[in-house]
Formats: sequence, structure tokens, C-alpha cells
Amino acid sequence: MAPLSRIPGFTSTGSKRPAALFGADPPADLPRHMVRSAGCTVWDERGREYLDLVMALGAVALGYGHPEVTAAVAVAAADGAVGPLPPVLEEEIAERIARLAPWVERVRFLKSGAEAMAAAVRIARAHTGRERVLGCGYHGWLDWCQGGDLAVPAATRALYAELPFNDVERTRAMIRAAGSQLAAVAIEPVVVDPPHPEWLAAVRQESERAGAVFIVDEVKTVGRLALGGGCERYGIRPDLVVMGKAIANGFPLALVGGRAEVMIAATRTWISSTLATEFVSLAAARATLDVLERERVPAYLWRVGGALYAGFERFAAAHRDLIAGVGGVAPMCFLKLMDEDTSAAVARECARRGLVFKRGAYNFVSLAHDATAVCRALDVLEEVLDYLARSR
Ligand SMILES: Cc1ncc(COP(=O)(O)O)c(C=O)c1O
Repeated sequence: MAPLSRIPGFTSTGSKRPAALFGADPPADLPRHMVRSAGCTVWDERGREYLDLVMALGAVALGYGHPEVTAAVAVAAADGAVGPLPPVLEEEIAERIARLAPWVERVRFLKSGAEAMAAAVRIARAHTGRERVLGCGYHGWLDWCQGGDLAVPAATRALYAELPFNDVERTRAMIRAAGSQLAAVAIEPVVVDPPHPEWLAAVRQESERAGAVFIVDEVKTVGRLALGGGCERYGIRPDLVVMGKAIANGFPLALVGGRAEVMIAATRTWISSTLATEFVSLAAARATLDVLERERVPAYLWRVGGALYAGFERFAAAHRDLIAGVGGVAPMCFLKLMDEDTSAAVARECARRGLVFKRGAYNFVSLAHDATAVCRALDVLEEVLDYLARSR
């Protein structure tokens, strides 16, 4: 039996909870807590070592404990980390972001993706004087986008609806129906599939026509699909963009930024957070941006992730009774496992063989994953899939 936990549902993001990782009531031999990570390796509380394909849910693109980031963080911590004034680094990182993503003319920093998305929506509401929002993809846990959560006030839920990804006709109709009440349209650039250019064009066109703010949520795609995220890769020009995760290689930093004319509305609403610009994370971001640019990390992730994706496709072809297909794009991809039991069994058996594999959501490669690591992950998966196919 699992030991008592004093943390209901675990504090961490939903995807790291034992049931999300390994299915309901995971057996006690599976890893529950970790003590250390380095490169693409993690160690659990019993000292067992795993090759990781989760990479803190895409928050780490350079590998855990990247030496340049660690050194920068140590200096910032020794320099005091926080104080009564905004840090100089805030302006410097805003300038760097504007250079790599010129559509980000102004920036506000926050700590988490959910918080930065909530700020983007608030800025859009302040800019337009309207309330309704259409979203597409995952935008975090905060009230504005939790249309199905009964613990969120009904009045808030009524202001939000989900757009169908890549469905031009229904998207067009929904934006037109919301019309002059629409404050914002927020999309993720990749939702299981890459975006169709016609869908992107329709979202942009219809948002503009409705007078709504077009927000692109790049929390997990910035620094991964391209330095400037999905906007750079797919030629999207948003009014506002939200970045997080990979920009500080696992340190808590997110930002909302975009056109100066829209961002000025941030001064007409209350967006404030005591630790938004503690400068340990800003120092992590500076070192991370150096490495992302110097090592051309996104191109590397497409290459090494391409090998993973190709392996997934091979498995999908060989195990049609276990796998329905492959989702995502090379730097963030997943196996569409047939059902909950199969997906839990795959994740459990992978962990027993030393691989943390994400079931039902993206696996993420990093600069620390070389060809050998990807081969090793694919060897484990192949063994697991063969074993499960035999035991049917
Ligand atoms: C696209 C996107 N937006 C927002 C979030 C929420 O970010 P956080 O968990 O940092 O609040 C996530 C998290 O996975 C995400 O993938």
C-alpha cells in the first residue's frame, strides 16, 4: 500500500501525479518522488536511476542542471535574489525577447504559464472593454478558462468556450457569434497536430474583424519549435503572446508580451506579484537564452525528436491493437495508446525498465538527449510493447 501523503492530490502539476503517470492505484514499486535530476536522468527517492522523456513537462529544453544556467543561478542567489526595486535584468531580458520575437514589443514577467495567460486575458479585457473569451488548447488552471469546473463561478464559466483546433468553419462561426462581446481569442499553436495555415488565417482574420485580441499561448512551444516558438515556425503574428517553461530551463518564469498598443492596457488593470521579478529566474533566463541561441537548440530538438517520432511511428505500425497513432511534432510527441489500461501498463513497464515515459500527453526531448538516449528509450518501449502484445 502507498504510504500516507499529507498533500491531497499532490501539489505538483496534474500530470506529475502518480495516477496521471501510472494509472489508478499505482503499485508501490513504481517511483513516486524524486530527489535529483541531471541532463536527461532522474533519480527517485530509493536512488533508482531513470532516463526521462518528460523533462518537467517541457519546462527543460537544455537538460536538467545545465552548468551555465546553474552557475548563473548561483551568482544571482548570492547577489540576494530579490529587493525593493525592479532588477536591471528585467529590462535586459525584455530586450532579448523582443529581438528573438519582434512581435513582443512590451513585456510583463510572471511566474507560471497559467498566471501569464490570466494576465494576457485581463489585458485583452482592459484593452477591449469586453468580457468573452474563446480558447483552444490548455491554458492553465485559473478560473477564466475552466469552463467545465463546477468550483468556478457559473458567471465566469459562461464567459469562456473552446474553439475546435484546425476546424475553419466552426471556428469562424464561433468567433462571429461572439462578435462584439469578444475580448480575446487564445490559441496554442500545436494541439496534437500542427496548425493548418487556413485555420490560422481564419483565426487571425476573424479575431481582427471582431475587434478581439489574438493571443498565442507559447508556454510549451517557445524555444522548442523555434527560438520564437510556434509564431516563428508557422508565421503567426499575434497581438499578445505568452511564454513560459523553456525560457528559464525549469526556473519559474513566464511572461506576457506583445504589441505596445495592446500591452499599455496592463497599466489600467491590476497585475501584480511580489516575486514576479526575483532575479534568480531572470538570470536563469539570460543563461538559457544564451545557450538556446548559441547551440541552435530548436533545430537540434527537431533532429533528435525526429528520431523519437520515427520510432513512435514504427511502433504504431507494428502494434495496431495497442497504438492508435502518433500525436504532436518531433520536439514534443506522444503515442496515442488505445485505452487507459494499455497506457497505464506501458508507463508502468517503462518505469520498471528505467524509463519515465509520458502516457497520453507529450514526451519532450532536450539538448541532453543524444542519439544514444533516444535509442535506449526506443529499445525500452519496444521491449514493453512486445511484452504487452505477448501477454494479451
Ligand atoms: C500551452 C500551455 N499554457 C499554459 C500552461 C500552464 O502553465 P503552468 O503549468 O506553468 O501554469 C501550460 C502548462 O502545461 C501549457 O502547456
